Amino acid sequence: MSPSSSPRPFVYVQDRLVCSGVDVTALAEQYGTPLYVYSADAIRERATMLQQAFAAAAPRLNTTLCYAVKANSSLAILKMLGEAGCGFDIVSGGELERVKRAAPQSVGKVVFSGVGKQAWEMDAALQAGILLFNVESEAELELLSERAVALNKTARIALRVNPDVFAETHPYISTGLSAHKFGIAIARARAVYQRAASLPGLKPEGVSVHIGSQIRAVEPFGQALARVRSLVEELRSDGIAIHYVDAGGGFGIEYGEGAFDPAASVASYAKELAAVMQGLDAQLLLEPGRFLVAQAGALVTRVLYTKQNGDKHFVITDAAMNDLIRPALYQAHHEIWPVVKSDRAPQKADIVGPVCESGDFFARDRLLPELEAGDLAALLDAGAYGMTLASHYNTRVHPAEVLVEGGAARLVRRRETLDELMAAEIL
Ligand code: LLP
Repeated sequence: MSPSSSPRPFVYVQDRLVCSGVDVTALAEQYGTPLYVYSADAIRERATMLQQAFAAAAPRLNTTLCYAVKANSSLAILKMLGEAGCGFDIVSGGELERVKRAAPQSVGKVVFSGVGKQAWEMDAALQAGILLFNVESEAELELLSERAVALNKTARIALRVNPDVFAETHPYISTGLSAHKFGIAIARARAVYQRAASLPGLKPEGVSVHIGSQIRAVEPFGQALARVRSLVEELRSDGIAIHYVDAGGGFGIEYGEGAFDPAASVASYAKELAAVMQGLDAQLLLEPGRFLVAQAGALVTRVLYTKQNGDKHFVITDAAMNDLIRPALYQAHHEIWPVVKSDRAPQKADIVGPVCESGDFFARDRLLPELEAGDLAALLDAGAYGMTLASHYNTRVHPAEVLVEGGAARLVRRRETLDELMAAEIL
C-alpha cells in the first residue's frame, strides 16, 4: 500500500517498516524496545480530518474537539493537539495537571467527565477555569455547588445523560445503557436540571452524552444525539439556557486488515450528527480519543525466544501485557507486522510476552511470516489505550516513547529506570 492510501503512517519501504518516513529499525536500535512510536503528522492529520468533516457537513455549526486525554496522555501529544486548536476531555485532577503543563492556553476548552470527581479535583478545575463539568449524579451536583461557593466561582455544568441506546461494541467499553454506571437516566434529567438551576454556584449550560467506545456504526450516535436534542428543547422551554451539546467520543477504527477510509467514515459520522444538530443553535463539543491517536502509534518489540510446546509454536517478545493490555483485557485484535519483511514461510504462532500469566498474549494462532529471536515486530494501532493502560506488573518499567514529526524522531518519554519505579516505596 502506498502511504497515502493507508490509514496508518506505518508502511513498508523496500521491505523495511517506516513511520512517516523514519526507519523503525533505527528507532528500535537507538531507543531500545519495547518502544512506542507515534506519528505526530498522522495525529494532526486526523484532527484536521475531523474538523474538516464537520465544517463540510455543517458549515454554520460551531464544533470544538475536546481530545479525550485518557486515550494517550503524552505531554508532547497534548501540546501538539492544543496547538492544533483542540480542547480536552479530562477525567481526573491528574489529567487536568497534564493539560495545564502541556497546553495551558487550552484550559478554557476543557470538559471534565467522570463518575467519581473528588473535591480537590473540582477545586483545581474551578481555579483553572475549565469550560464545562459533565456531572454524572445528583450527589456530585451538590458537592460541586459547595466547592464553587467556597471558592467564589461559578461552575458551568452539563449533565451527562444516559440515553439508553445500544451500541455494538465490547461490553467493557459500552456505556450508554441504563445498566451502566454512567450518567443520569435521560427520563429524570429534566428534574435534575431544575435542581441544578436552584443550587448556588452552578450554571447549567450544556447536555452531554457518551455511549461507548470503538463504535463503528454511525446510527447509534445519531439516536443518542436526537434524544439529547429533545431534552435541550424541553430545558429551554423550562427557561434553562443550553449553549453546549457534548456528543462524547467513541468513534471507532478498523483494527484488522479490512479496508478503512478514515476520511469517508468520519464524514458520515459528521453528517449523522450535523443532521440532528441542524437549527439547534448550540455549540457542539466532541470528545474523540481513539480516532485521533490509535492508528498513529505502534508498539515495537523484539523477539527474545521462540519455542515449540507440543503442536503450539510460541514467539516470546520483550513487550508484554503490562505494556499493551488490550488483547488480554478486551480480546482486542492488533495487527502484528515484522519490522523487516522476510521471505520466510508463514507459520501459525502465539505471540506472547514474558509476564507470568496465561493471559499475557498479543495474538493466538496467528499466521505470520516466521519470526526468529532478535527480529523486531510492530503491534499496530497501539497509539490509543496502550501506554495509558500500561502497568508495572512483574516490576517491568514502562516503555520509552518517540514522536515522529516532519521526517525526524524525538524521544518524548525516556525509558523508566528501576530506581524511579521503586522511588515512592519505603523499606
Ligand atoms: N468521552 C468519555 C466520557 C469517555 O468515557 C471516553 C472513553 C471518551 C470520551 C473517548 O472515547 P474514544 O473516542 O477513545 O472511543 N480502554 C478501552 C477504551 C475505554 C474508553 C473509555 N472512555 C480500549 O482500549 O478499547
